[in-house]
This record gives sequence, C-alpha cells and structure tokens, in this order.
Amino acid sequence: MILTSSQQALNLMGTVLVDPGDIIAVENPGYHGAKLAFLAAGVFLKPVAVDVDGIIVSDIEDSRGPVHAVYVTPSHQYPTGVTLNLARRLALLDWAQRTGGWIIEDDYDSEYRYDGRPLASIQGLDRAGHVLYLGTFNKMLFPSLRLAYLVLPKQLVRPFVAARTLLDGQSPLIAQAVLHEFIREGHFTAHIRRMRQLYHARRNSFISAAEKHLSPYVEVAVPAGGLSIACYLRDGLDEGRTVEIAKSVGIELSTLRRLYLGGQGRQGWLLGFAALSPDAAARAMQKLSYALSNECK
Ligand SMILES: Cc1ncc(COP(=O)(O)O)c(C=O)c1O
Repeated sequence: MILTSSQQALNLMGTVLVDPGDIIAVENPGYHGAKLAFLAAGVFLKPVAVDVDGIIVSDIEDSRGPVHAVYVTPSHQYPTGVTLNLARRLALLDWAQRTGGWIIEDDYDSEYRYDGRPLASIQGLDRAGHVLYLGTFNKMLFPSLRLAYLVLPKQLVRPFVAARTLLDGQSPLIAQAVLHEFIREGHFTAHIRRMRQLYHARRNSFISAAEKHLSPYVEVAVPAGGLSIACYLRDGLDEGRTVEIAKSVGIELSTLRRLYLGGQGRQGWLLGFAALSPDAAARAMQKLSYALSNECK
C-alpha cells in the first residue's frame, strides 16, 4: 500500500490489527510515534529492553496475556542506533510462528547504512506471512513529500485497504507519478548513493568532533546507519539541565529519557547529523562544550 507516512501506517495498524486491550511489545527505548499511535488504539504496551544486538526477543512474553504484535526498528534501532542481528531476526520469526503474533518492521532509513553489509529484512526472511513491513520516502527524500509504503501479508490487504479508503481514499497521485518517474529514470538510486556517501562522511566527522569537544559530558554511540546519533550523559549530569544550558546558547537538544517507558531510562541526547556541514557541527559542539564547562566547573 502507498500511504502518506509511516505514521499513517501505524495508525491504521491501531485500527485494523489490534483491539483495545491487546498487548503490543515495543522496543525500550523506542519510537514515540509508534507508541502514541498504539496507545491511541487502546492497547497495552509491553516495553522490551534493547542491548547491543537489538531488542531482546526472549523478553517479549508478557504475564498479562498473549502478545499480539511486536514493533521493531531492526536496521538501526530508534534511538540507540544498534542493528538487530540475524539470530534475533530469526528468533523473532520463530516467536511469530509459535504464537501467531505479528511483527511490525519499521525499516526507516535502512538505505542509509555505512558499515558492513545490510542484513536481510525480517520481511524478506519470513515464509509464513507474519510481517508488516514499513518504509518511508519522507526520510529518504524529504519530509514534506508525504509518501510511504506498507508491505502486507496477503490476508491483511483487504482490511487495510478498506480502512485506508475510509480514512482518506489515497495518497496524492501527482506526487506518486513524479516519484515513479524519478525512480524509473534512475535518479532515486543515484540520490541514495550520493547521499549515503555524504552522510557517511558527515557521520564520521560528527563523531570525531563529538569525541573531541563533548567527551567529558557524553559517551557517543556510533550507529552503523541512519541519520542520528545517541549520546549518553556521563554520571552526575542532568539531562534537563543540559537542555537548558544548550538552549541558552541557541542549541536545541532532543533528549533520550523521554523515549523510555516505565520511568527509568538512560539520560542523553539524540543528535541529528545529516543536515549539518562538518564545520557547522563542530562550531555548535565547541559552543555547547564551552557552555557546559562553565556550568560543570
Ligand atoms: C522510527 C521512525 N519511523 C518512522 C519515521 C517517520 O516517518 P513518516 O514521516 O513517514 O511518518 C521516523 C521519523 O523520524 C522514525 O524515526
């Protein structure tokens, strides 16, 4: 299905895939857009911890009852940036086979991978039709485009089409036709190739600058792909206070703790690196480091 956004797909899942009171397992920390869409549908969320290999699949079971679906961002987990390894992808499929649960695979930005070879998507490994696969052009190209897609198991196509037709009919055809030509003429592939190189270089220089200027304050988690980097605050620093200090020098910091369910979580920042030139990023970090050093003396 062609949709306007991943968000629209997540909302449709709330309507079609689950009933109020069902349980959906989500990565913890995890993507707020997904959690809010599921909560709006009246489901219970089961937070499942994430380690260096992604969501801990053996922790998906919930004492309240069967888990109906699990939402994952396997290529680079939002917000930690870790990649779900192959063994866990297979374990997730095994869980779906055993329980009849659904796997919601949000593969946002998977085209932007810089280290190692891309892993097969869970949907690509699935032989039994348990995976709903989500991709979005809004991040691959630009956010105001509003085009995304959802690959559905066969038995879900009709109910999703019915719900989507009720909601808003279809995505704008003119934008789809233009994007179709853009892809057909090879510009899309060329764009991804060019941007992957650019973002790869920007990620590397962003990390070097962060390690140079900000290492007294944060530990930088290098992601294998994507457009943002998680930075974990060192002990003794308060996330809210760092946001205020940054704001006082004109820098907006997106934070990590709010992305955890259940009150406890690591403090830190989620920094987008793709839109900044290496010089601009280094200058901002220098400014931030100076402001933090005044405060933390
Ligand atoms: C995990 C994740 N999925 C999806 C999206 C957004 O996609 P869309 O704009 O198509 O809703 C984002 C945007 O930041 C995201 O972080």
